[in-house]
Amino acid sequence: MQRDIRGLEVGTESEEAVRNLDLGVADYLDYGQTAGARVKAALEADSNFALAQCYRGYLLMMLENRAVFPKIQATLDQLAAARDSMTRREQLHADALQAWVNGDLISACLAWEAILAEWPRDLMALKLHHTMAFYTGRSHVLRSVVEGVLGEWDETTPGYSNVQGMYAYALEECGDYENAERWGREATERNPGDLWAIHSVAHVLEMQGRYAEGSKWLDYPAEHWADKNFFKAHVWWHNGLFALAQEKYDDALRILDEEMASVNSDKYVDVSNQAALLKRLEIAGVNVGDRWDALAAHSETRINDHILPFRDAHFCLSLAARGKFDVAREQIDSLFTFARSGEGWTADTTEKILIPLCEAMIAYEAGEYGKACDILWPLRNEMAPIGGSLAQRDLFTQILIDSAVRAKRLGMARSLLSERVARFPGARRNWSDYASVLADLGETDRAAQARSRASELETGASHARTKEAIQ
Ligand SMILES: [Fe+2]
Repeated sequence: MQRDIRGLEVGTESEEAVRNLDLGVADYLDYGQTAGARVKAALEADSNFALAQCYRGYLLMMLENRAVFPKIQATLDQLAAARDSMTRREQLHADALQAWVNGDLISACLAWEAILAEWPRDLMALKLHHTMAFYTGRSHVLRSVVEGVLGEWDETTPGYSNVQGMYAYALEECGDYENAERWGREATERNPGDLWAIHSVAHVLEMQGRYAEGSKWLDYPAEHWADKNFFKAHVWWHNGLFALAQEKYDDALRILDEEMASVNSDKYVDVSNQAALLKRLEIAGVNVGDRWDALAAHSETRINDHILPFRDAHFCLSLAARGKFDVAREQIDSLFTFARSGEGWTADTTEKILIPLCEAMIAYEAGEYGKACDILWPLRNEMAPIGGSLAQRDLFTQILIDSAVRAKRLGMARSLLSERVARFPGARRNWSDYASVLADLGETDRAAQARSRASELETGASHARTKEAIQ
């Protein structure tokens, strides 16, 4: 029996297999591009290495494409036949993978939690749990589970910075921005290659409205992340948001065209990040040209996937934004069938949140703004199970605000914008939209106050622009 780099027993006699698996995990945690090759090398050294087989299944699942499911299920069937010869930790990994394939993300998380209770230094279990707790929108679970293992880690444990980065993100999603930033910056100093840690700090800066600081934090030349996998597109998305909030629309479009769209490949098309930035730009009044075409064309091939509600929502948005309403309706029909026949978290969330959300986005894109308001208003504070981060789900709030303004639901718009300026006081456009709504409601004094706040921020933005031009 060999031990991995963190001292955990693994079910193989091959030192080469373990070494490759360790390297694969490290690369996966840093969002590199060699994790698949390392896991393959581990399996070449020992084809019966159950843990490596599970990891290969996990990496395939991360492609978020139902087309790979039969291959994963074949592996799971092999693992089930060999279950008695597997270690308890390997069995739990196989259970997690099977639950994930079944769309039961909660059971998958529970299997990883069972692993972490016994083996708190199982970094892969921790990372996958972290990712799926994030995809199920359960911030408190993110925090609880990372804190539950923290006592067993310190700076001498390989991969500690990755744990720090995860903790930073968990704290950020729970609103503890100060500690999140501290942990995230420390993780980044310890391991500048950890994109998740860099990204955790970007979230703090976004949520605190520190947009210029955010642009600086992510001011990397594109080639700096040449060896990173498709997650880098999401980090660039954050940089696009910082540009958007500072009303540097050309910069946001350049980031989208040059950095985000470039991660598209045969296996993976980045729909969620690109759609989420395009829609925000359109809400801000920017003409995005024909950029929806490719996203809608790809989304059309994924209308029966139903792997992650968060992804499905962005497929629907892309279809509707491109005017492909018939295909979007076909997707909703497919979602209904899936929700009725499925079990577990994914089916449940699809029925309760995703389908109404898709209906709202279709209504919004069709110009039926009142209908979009009727659907989104009661959903707006119940959206967490759709998954993603606070920053990502904010798109749906922005669609609701735009719908309320366009439908002349002024009381609703006032309420939403009042909340928005309280939360994000540093964004000029929020104040300007708030001022317009207050003026429409005849609240002249409050409108003037909001307009003056917008002007102050405009001046600040101009100063920042001038300063940058001089430098
Ligand atoms: Fe993010």
